[in-house]
Amino acid sequence: MKVVGGSASIPLARALAVELGVPFVDVSFEKHPGGFPDGESYVRLLGQVAREHVVLVQTTHPDPKVVEFLLLADAIRDAGARRVTALIPYYGYSRQDKRFLEGETVSAKTLAKHIALNCDELLTMTIHNPEILKTFPIPASEVSGMPALGRYLKAAKTDFLLAPDENAVRLVKEGGAISSTPWDYLQKERIDSYRVEIASKKLAVKDKSVAIVDDVISTGGTIATAAKELRRQGARHVIAACIHGLFVNNAEANLKICDDLIATDTVQSPHTRVSVAPEFAAAIRALD
Ligand code: R5P
Repeated sequence: MKVVGGSASIPLARALAVELGVPFVDVSFEKHPGGFPDGESYVRLLGQVAREHVVLVQTTHPDPKVVEFLLLADAIRDAGARRVTALIPYYGYSRQDKRFLEGETVSAKTLAKHIALNCDELLTMTIHNPEILKTFPIPASEVSGMPALGRYLKAAKTDFLLAPDENAVRLVKEGGAISSTPWDYLQKERIDSYRVEIASKKLAVKDKSVAIVDDVISTGGTIATAAKELRRQGARHVIAACIHGLFVNNAEANLKICDDLIATDTVQSPHTRVSVAPEFAAAIRALD
């Protein structure tokens, strides 16, 4: 087995290779220093992968990383790999998991069709709607990021976990079991891409250190709204914790209300505090 990392996921890909005790294959992402002037992607494998089982690690966010993934998968197949596992730490486009309006595409599935061109199976982490994986043209499964986050929150002596919406309940349930911490959830209604409303609810958080746990932080609107509610109810310390930290637009400013921001390395950011390499290594070892 060998591990190849796309440019969105090199630290995680290297950590995974170390966990698995297998070689990491370097890739060149620029033909000439500075890359192509028009911004097109370029990949060149700098090691042999013929007859190998290759694990290709690449988050599909932002969009250029999708193209780079497709180029890498093709290069790996052309170079004679016998099996290619697409390991997509954060599956970009997962939130368009159905046709909300006539004429739309189910983007999560569109991406999977293209991934399937050169990959035999797909592993991802804490996807927005795990049901979508059943519709993919290759075997696809989800690995939970909560053990990694739960270990961190336990060490940080968090007293309480809060899901900012019903979709995150499965995360706080699992995290609560790992860190022996009580949890609760809020009900959220999205107004637009940036604003959400949260129904008021009495929470047992007075003087507590609380972590708001979500799958994704994008603009930070969801977490900031939940954090305001926690402050209003007397929480002493508020942590924003997520598996996938995108932190787009004004997220940093929105989240100033929190005492700390924590994310995993599915998306590399200044707030990456914990690696999910052990979780993915266990999932790779468990493949048939
Ligand atoms: C949506 O249901 C997701 O689980 C997240 O709550 C959402 O994507 C977070 O987005 P934002 O940070 O922009 O509020």
